[in-house]
Amino acid sequence: MSSDVSRDGVVLVGCGRLGSAMLEGWLATGAVAAGDLIILSPSGKPAAEAARAKGARINPPLEALRETRTLVLAVKPAMWRTALEPLVPHLNPEVVLVSVMAGVSSEDIARVAGRPVARVMPTTAVAQARGVAAIWSMDARALSMAQALFAPVADVAPLDDEGLMDAATAVAGSAPAFIYAFVQALADAGVAQGLAPDAAARLARGALRSAGAGLETGDGLDALIARIASPGGTTRAGLDAMAEGGDLNRAAEAAVKAAVERAKSF
Ligand SMILES: NC(=O)c1ccc[n+]([C@@H]2O[C@H](COP(=O)([O-])OP(=O)(O)OC[C@H]3O[C@@H](n4cnc5c(N)ncnc54)[C@H](OP(=O)(O)O)[C@@H]3O)[C@@H](O)[C@H]2O)c1
Repeated sequence: MSSDVSRDGVVLVGCGRLGSAMLEGWLATGAVAAGDLIILSPSGKPAAEAARAKGARINPPLEALRETRTLVLAVKPAMWRTALEPLVPHLNPEVVLVSVMAGVSSEDIARVAGRPVARVMPTTAVAQARGVAAIWSMDARALSMAQALFAPVADVAPLDDEGLMDAATAVAGSAPAFIYAFVQALADAGVAQGLAPDAAARLARGALRSAGAGLETGDGLDALIARIASPGGTTRAGLDAMAEGGDLNRAAEAAVKAAVERAKSF
């Protein structure tokens, strides 16, 4: 069953890593029906071909864009003007743009497109309908179109201010890499305690999977920690050591701050 946003037609501009992930998630969940989709992609992509087999149109004549009410921009930030400018004369007057690009302001996009813009910062786990997405727009219609597209494939977190998009990107988009780095540090610490490197790596990866399974219960982080860390026990001792002197918070703050500063420098 397709949603209203689907029936109004969706154009996906760019079918790379994130574009393909969104496509897979939309088709798997029915958030967008393939027959309501137009995909613009310079080269052939497996996800686009799979959508074509279900009825999506790939690179049709640009006049077809006039039938659609949502255009999702998923090209690299350096490419967006080149990709968008030729499309603008063919857009429906009612279309809204949804940009998933990092570091390109809604104001710049709206200046070129002359249409309302929503910004969304999703993770590629939208492919499995397990993503997370920060979302912002000052236009109510653009915001609701973006919500309709992403709520079926992601946990959607609305932001109060576009300026917070970089912080949201650091906490959601970059954070899996921060967490992997921490898990690697845990494995290294296990080796320092005598574990063989293979065993340490396997145990640390397994611990991350177990932590993810805990999240699936829907319980809050404090409750999940309390379930493992009994007073006076080994986990409590480890947590206390980690928190001592604020080292853990300092590391997290430094990582998020550096990612935000790098995003602002683009
Ligand atoms: N990857 C992520 O995890 C992630 C997360 C959040 C946000 N983002 C944002 O998503 C955007 C895309 O990132 P990505 O990782 O998916 O990059 P990517 O894999 O390089 O995909 C970009 C795609 O844009 C296509 N493209 C280039 N010019 C085009 C045009 N004129 N019309 C239509 N398509 C065109 C490219 O096609 P060809 O392959 O044929 O050259 C390419 O497949 C970026 O702005 C990024 O900031 C990505």
